[in-house]
Amino acid sequence: MTRSVHISPVVIVTGASRGFGRALTAALLDRGCTVVGDARRTADLEATASALNSPRLIPIAGDVTDPAHRAALIVAAIDAGPLRLLVNNASRLGPSPQPALADYLAADLRAVYNVNVFAPLALIQAALPALTDNHGVIVNVTSDAAVEAYEGWGGYGSSKAALDHISAILAVERPDVQVYAFDPGDVRTEMHQAAFPGEDISDRPEPESVVPAFLRLLDTRPAAGRYRASDPSVAGAPA
Ligand SMILES: NC(=O)c1ccc[n+]([C@@H]2O[C@H](COP(=O)([O-])OP(=O)(O)OC[C@H]3O[C@@H](n4cnc5c(N)ncnc54)[C@H](OP(=O)(O)O)[C@@H]3O)[C@@H](O)[C@H]2O)c1
Repeated sequence: MTRSVHISPVVIVTGASRGFGRALTAALLDRGCTVVGDARRTADLEATASALNSPRLIPIAGDVTDPAHRAALIVAAIDAGPLRLLVNNASRLGPSPQPALADYLAADLRAVYNVNVFAPLALIQAALPALTDNHGVIVNVTSDAAVEAYEGWGGYGSSKAALDHISAILAVERPDVQVYAFDPGDVRTEMHQAAFPGEDISDRPEPESVVPAFLRLLDTRPAAGRYRASDPSVAGAPA
């Protein structure tokens, strides 16, 4: 008699301790995935892991800009099973309030690009062999600030524009993996509050509200490209 063994698909979600990354991690665990998730603040990541309470969550504290940490994420993911999805979600807004470009310090801009551009590409490069073997998917989490010229959003917005273009070019260079940029839209998170310091952001939707659109992207696998959570093709509950 043969017994079928269920192998849990493995996902890497950066920035899994709170906000959209945490909401997505919870949903992917519910779907039976193994999630390798990170964040810099160990206590926050541990608190999230204990709240989500799943043996399939592998929390690894660290900074995505650290090559040794990125290597640890990849090793843990490959050890856990077939790597099917990389979600580059961790992001840096930059100073709050955000400075105008004329006043933007080079060190601050470099820090934003290190997290939002260089680290995601480095993780992609490291994950590509395993993702290719497993018909995998890469999702880079982007923002409307990548395509709209909002005053004061030059640092973060231009970094997300670079990430969008990396997503688009990777998609044509590597048709053997599916590459998406996903814009969740405004959601009520720590980063959103930092972007609007002192403002009441309680009218913004919770990050959980845009997770169904993300899951629909995974389920329907439309053509590679840039999708907003509000796009009719992905908005709504997953099929
Ligand atoms: N919120 C919005 O309205 C909005 C709108 C458009 C796009 N987005 C995008 O959505 C994504 C999630 O944003 P969010 O609002 O959920 O942010 P958030 O609540 O601030 O959460 C960010 C997560 O990333 C982690 N993180 C930050 N820097 C990191 C680093 N260098 N290395 C590892 N982990 C790091 C944070 O934990 P630690 O601080 O402990 O590291 C946290 O877990 C981002 O890509 C953001 O650009 C958000």
